[in-house]
Amino acid sequence: MSYKEVYAAWQANPEAFWMQAAEAIDWEEKPSKALFDDKAPIYEWFSDGMVNACWNAVDRHVEAGRGDQIAIQHESPITHATKGITYAELQRRVASLAGALRMRGVEKGDRVIIYMPMIPEALEAMLACARLGAVHSVVFGGFAAHELAVRIDDCTPKAIIAASCGLEPNRVVHYKPLLDEAIEIAAHKPEFCVIFQREQEVAKLVEGRDFSWHGFQYGVKPAECVPVEGNHPAYILYTSGTTGQPKGVVRHTGGHLVALQWSMKNVYNIDAGDRFWAASDVGWVVGHSYICYGPLLAGATTVVFEGKPVGTPHPGVFWRIIQNQRIKSFFTAPTALRAIKREDPDGEWIRRYKAHELQAIYLAGERADPDTIKWAQKHFGVPVIDHWWQTETGWAIAANPLGIEELPVKLGSPSVPMPGYDVQVLGEDGHPLPAGELGAIAIKLPLPPGTLPTLWNAEERYLKSYLTTFPGYYETGDAGMVDEDGYLYIMARTDDVINVAGHRLSTGAMEEVLASHPDVAECAVIGMSDKLKGQAPLGFLCLSAGVNREHAEIVKECVALVREQIGPVAAFKQAVVVDRLPKTRSGKILRATMVKIADGESYKMPATIDDPAILDEIRVALKSIGLAPETQDC
Ligand code: COA
Ligand code: AMP
Repeated sequence: MSYKEVYAAWQANPEAFWMQAAEAIDWEEKPSKALFDDKAPIYEWFSDGMVNACWNAVDRHVEAGRGDQIAIQHESPITHATKGITYAELQRRVASLAGALRMRGVEKGDRVIIYMPMIPEALEAMLACARLGAVHSVVFGGFAAHELAVRIDDCTPKAIIAASCGLEPNRVVHYKPLLDEAIEIAAHKPEFCVIFQREQEVAKLVEGRDFSWHGFQYGVKPAECVPVEGNHPAYILYTSGTTGQPKGVVRHTGGHLVALQWSMKNVYNIDAGDRFWAASDVGWVVGHSYICYGPLLAGATTVVFEGKPVGTPHPGVFWRIIQNQRIKSFFTAPTALRAIKREDPDGEWIRRYKAHELQAIYLAGERADPDTIKWAQKHFGVPVIDHWWQTETGWAIAANPLGIEELPVKLGSPSVPMPGYDVQVLGEDGHPLPAGELGAIAIKLPLPPGTLPTLWNAEERYLKSYLTTFPGYYETGDAGMVDEDGYLYIMARTDDVINVAGHRLSTGAMEEVLASHPDVAECAVIGMSDKLKGQAPLGFLCLSAGVNREHAEIVKECVALVREQIGPVAAFKQAVVVDRLPKTRSGKILRATMVKIADGESYKMPATIDDPAILDEIRVALKSIGLAPETQDC
């Protein structure tokens, strides 16, 4: 069937479409129907089925005779480790860890936070939770103790599973002191912690609270898979919103399994036995869907990569792994390719390796700029597929579904909506706009299986953040347009979320931290353009009256404060002191105009500006730190 036929089949009968897709999953009890709409606009999928995610990702492949196939391939150019774990081994390891967690009281519905680097044990911890029906919440290693504490208080875990350390090219990330500090700050205390001691650092354990990964499992009875309802939460994944309080995206088990299984074949063209690599991190949604669950559900081999696209040790590391692991589909962020292109513009490193089995490169996480796509197309000669999705959706909203049909690539577009997504571009009045017109991108409810049904403990926030602006639609927070052929173009966020190196960050969260500095009276953070990372945060600080200290000193303290409170991943490196912020007469900070000034783009004087002279002050302040080239009012 062609893409058009598949999409039309879904439109004609969504219920039959998803019930058929659900056939690819092993159910303990089959669901009686796909969509449960009795609580609309909160929708659920496959709620009355009984299923286990770990069974589907691991055990069923062993039963089907794939026990000797590599399930997880660990590649760490930082430690020089390269190791494969078969499906049979993975089953043993996960059942043992799950057994130990159960012995300490972890049961279906209990939350478990996982704070680990890119090692196979991170996936094993996720799968062990899934085996028991416990709800995992993975926290990215680049977040600081305070961010971890916020998540501990929000999802109140019974246990935390962590590693002693993570490894960045330039330093060891000491997870254990961060974990101890987070538990100290948090009001909620976990009952126990399990620490995976890495060779590079042995962490000090807290007597009675901390157990070592291996000792903890000694002599325990392995756990079997516990079937859960289709609408049982598989995990909570926190993502940035407009405030400092992250949003806990909930993923229900049934829809999560059905959608990911469907996407592995239809979007990524991956079958059992194939080798798939998503070079992201388990702390992000890409890691959940396409390092852990998706490839394992498909019975493929997944790669867990601990390294960077450049500098570990060279810009050929991706291509070496693609060659040696005979990768069929590779998924990365445009930033990673830009980093490689910067060091290897002519593709010399690419030519040193043979990517014979590579059939496609997938990009997501941020807008894929045409130059980067063209560079990759030229050097690999395979389709380079931009696809668009969010933590909230868990899988692609729009893609070029190679497993169905290779559609023509249009540079700058992540192609067309996937079945399940009725994507509309809406005007301010909520009415669909014609092709070619820029508006807010919304998805007609219900969202398909695998997408978020709500936010953890925050249904009101869910309704307010996503379902209120355009009744009957899910508001994506992205703006863009659709062309005559139905191809989407994602241009910008409509909120204050920024995207730095494919990492989604909240400027509101950074502002909250800056405002806590004793000398800062008011502040704003914007995302200015960055050639490598797409965007980079830039702070504006208005000091309290009477503060008479060196500005450079205050800026330095603010930079350190954001790193300490949010973490290095915020990449907050630049700020400037200004007397006042440009605002509308109603007091709204004119962030979009500030971005234009910082980027050196021309801007239109906002009609509602309180005092136009402030924009000149902003420009002068930015010039003093080497920014704002050639800006002008037009
Ligand atoms: N644990 C601890 N710290 C981490 C971390 C982790 N898992 N990941 C990143 N950090 C730190 C980095 O060490 C860096 O710290 P520094 O300020 O001391 O240098 C900081 O967070 C910013 O990291 P990053 O934005 O990744 O920048 P970088 O300069 O280290 O690397 C790239 C630049 C382009 C190589 C890198 O951003 C990259 O690989 N990007 C692709 C991102 C990606 O795959 N995203 C997934 C979305 S699908
Ligand atoms: P995250 O939730 O971290 O996956 O970030 C989701 C956001 O990243 C989206 O809402 C977009 O703003 C942006 N994004 C992700 N993929 C793309 C893409 N292919 N093109 C443009 N923007 C993207």
